[in-house]
Amino acid sequence: MARRIAFVNEKGGSCKTTLTVHMGAWLATVPGKRVLLVDLDPQGQLGKTLGYDVSAYNRTTLELLLDDTRDPALFLRRTRFENLDVVLCNKSIALFPTLVASDPDRDVRLSRAMDRVEDYDFVLFDSPASFGTIMLNLLVAAREVIVPVNASFLALDGCAELVKTMEALPATHSLPEPELRLIVPTLYRPTRMADSVIERLNAHFPGRVHAEPLRYDVKIEEAQSHGRTIWEYDPRARSCEMLSRLGGQVLAMGPPRARREAASVPPAAPQRPTVVDLRGRQREL
Ligand SMILES: Nc1ncnc2c1ncn2[C@@H]1O[C@H](COP(=O)(O)OP(=O)(O)O)[C@@H](O)[C@H]1O
Ligand SMILES: [Mg+2]
Repeated sequence: MARRIAFVNEKGGSCKTTLTVHMGAWLATVPGKRVLLVDLDPQGQLGKTLGYDVSAYNRTTLELLLDDTRDPALFLRRTRFENLDVVLCNKSIALFPTLVASDPDRDVRLSRAMDRVEDYDFVLFDSPASFGTIMLNLLVAAREVIVPVNASFLALDGCAELVKTMEALPATHSLPEPELRLIVPTLYRPTRMADSVIERLNAHFPGRVHAEPLRYDVKIEEAQSHGRTIWEYDPRARSCEMLSRLGGQVLAMGPPRARREAASVPPAAPQRPTVVDLRGRQREL
């Protein structure tokens, strides 16, 4: 079964799309591995980074989620990279929450669609910068979550919130919880503030923070605006090696152990009956 990895952070500009595209392109170069990228962001930046005019397509993530009768292969497109395919997204996905509002299974549509997709070793999801039906679908479909964190204080708060949301999924939505695999500090510049953010991330999430941050590198921005990966745009750019090492780590850490399923939430302890005594205090019978 494919490893399903979501790149998530509710904050825009934290390098979700950058990491999804680069991890996908890197993993697709591993001999024998096939990779599928799935975009869930109405901005469609993932497809744009791969050189597509995403507004021109109508077999996108939205149609994949809505049409569970057709072969999902109809929605996949080959990219210019061997062994790397993509499901494109555009702003039409904003209609999804309304279109499935009355469907009691609306939060598991992506997961079911992915169950019907075969022949991939990795499925990587790029996510929108907001929480809602689309994000819930993503957290249910993904088994692993990588959180890119822009090294600023506000981003740190967002990260803690996101992890709380993930951990609460079995209880709040009776949905299984994906595993937080890695936090990747991004847009790093060597300042005292950025170092203190990384220190706090390490204190909060010991063992999960990638030791090497993705440094601020204007070449990545340029590469993205040309619809290229950094390795294609400038193989001597300073971030090339970091992104290759990150790819190596994602590959090497292998799939997670079994995840916590919704059914494993322990039932609430039975309440003992209580009485109110003459002074108005409550006590157990
Ligand atoms: N290391 C980096 N240094 C400088 N700019 C970067 C870097 N990584 C990404 N960017 C740029 O930052 C912007 C936001 O990145 P993106 O991956 O689209 O974030 P998100 O998907 O989280 O909104 C893009 O313009 C991208 O080209
Ligand atoms: Mg993005």
